[in-house]
Amino acid sequence: MALATNEIDELVSLERGEVDRRIYSDQAIFELEMERIFARAWLFLCHESQIREPGDFFQSVMGRDNVLVVRQRDGSIRAMLNTCAHRGNAVCRAEEGNARSFLCTYHGWSYGIDGRLNGVPGLNTFYNGNLDKSRHGLAQVGQVATYKGFIFGTHDISAPPLEEYLGATGRLGLDLIAERGDMETVPGIQKFIIECNWKIAVDNLFDWYHPQISHASAFEPNVLPSLGETRDGGKIDMSGVNMQSGANLELSGGGIIGSKFETVVVLGEYGHAISGPSTSSPGYFDVAPGWRERPQAQGALGPVGIRVAGHPNIFPNTWVTTGMPQISLRIPRDPGHTEIWWFTFMDRNTPRETRDFMISFANRIFGPAGLLEQDDGENWAQATAQTRGVASRRMKHLLNMGLGRGRIIKEGGLARVETLTSEYAQLWTYNSWAQWMKGLDWNELKNATTPGHCI
Ligand code: FES
Ligand SMILES: [Fe+2]
Repeated sequence: MALATNEIDELVSLERGEVDRRIYSDQAIFELEMERIFARAWLFLCHESQIREPGDFFQSVMGRDNVLVVRQRDGSIRAMLNTCAHRGNAVCRAEEGNARSFLCTYHGWSYGIDGRLNGVPGLNTFYNGNLDKSRHGLAQVGQVATYKGFIFGTHDISAPPLEEYLGATGRLGLDLIAERGDMETVPGIQKFIIECNWKIAVDNLFDWYHPQISHASAFEPNVLPSLGETRDGGKIDMSGVNMQSGANLELSGGGIIGSKFETVVVLGEYGHAISGPSTSSPGYFDVAPGWRERPQAQGALGPVGIRVAGHPNIFPNTWVTTGMPQISLRIPRDPGHTEIWWFTFMDRNTPRETRDFMISFANRIFGPAGLLEQDDGENWAQATAQTRGVASRRMKHLLNMGLGRGRIIKEGGLARVETLTSEYAQLWTYNSWAQWMKGLDWNELKNATTPGHCI
């Protein structure tokens, strides 16, 4: 289905701060997302530290295409589709490892680590030698590039170079991990599926309105470590909230929760955005503090970046968490299922004890055993389910908090809003989503997703 431009414009209203619920359940819209967003955007594949040696590979996902990211003998990196050129079987079943070749288990075609077709059983007897092997290698991903160790790929050979695509906002998002030291991925990528639409998982990462309610049960019994205090000394502003349970939400020990800390919202081209507490906010904490004082980090982050402690999203689906350095992919499986992947990063020189604490901290917050992720996943699944009912889906999703009051300050290539809790970053993401869905060319898309003066 090709949606007309005016139909797409009706799905997201930047002026009213409303989103049509059909975008979370409509199969035709999902298929269009695969073509116009996931087959064009630069997508995070993995980190260089995961494939250090020749033959090391990591199996990643671009839209619904499985790809093998492979370190070559000359040190370069290739990414190729994990589908046999004969009749489509996967040529690799492992999620990661080291390979000297890839052998298809169906009829035995074998490929080099560069994707070249090397062996075809019965080439002379069955094919009479009549098969041009040079034309039937594994299909290569359109473009592959790295930024400070983070490997990205795009299916679109006409996409702008990675650094240009990331822009100042996307680069800052990755710098918030890269500049913490000599970073490597902790072995073991967590993978699990939540019954939600991928965009509901994405917009939640900017949502600093929900933690005080959704995550009250995680913070109240001090299951999580003390995370600092809100500006009110730990008291959360509950005005306007009708809690039937009467639960005590004066969270002892505070937390990174509450709607009263200052946030910095950065809006970038192509739909990248960052939203979260400022480092000067009393609610802010770092699991491994001090890294921002490194001269190298200060130089790379710049005066605005050094204050940004929030959650960057590299459009469409790469979430960088910064308190604890992690990347989460929200991989669309179908309109109602999203596979979540968690990569955890650590400075190679981190002392053992700190390393163990950080890993356990990460596991207790996000991932399948994470307290916050379980709270969030329930909300996302219910919100997705209620986009399917004929009557329910006539209602809009509201993203109109502070609408029209966000004055955008442009400085150092970044466009930012300084505010209390808002829904600007979510709205920016949906507005950009709509521009992508129109199938604009790259110049038009960049112009249509360049922030103005107000949101
Ligand atoms: S499908 Fe791979 S060899 Fe036939
Ligand atoms: Fe949450």
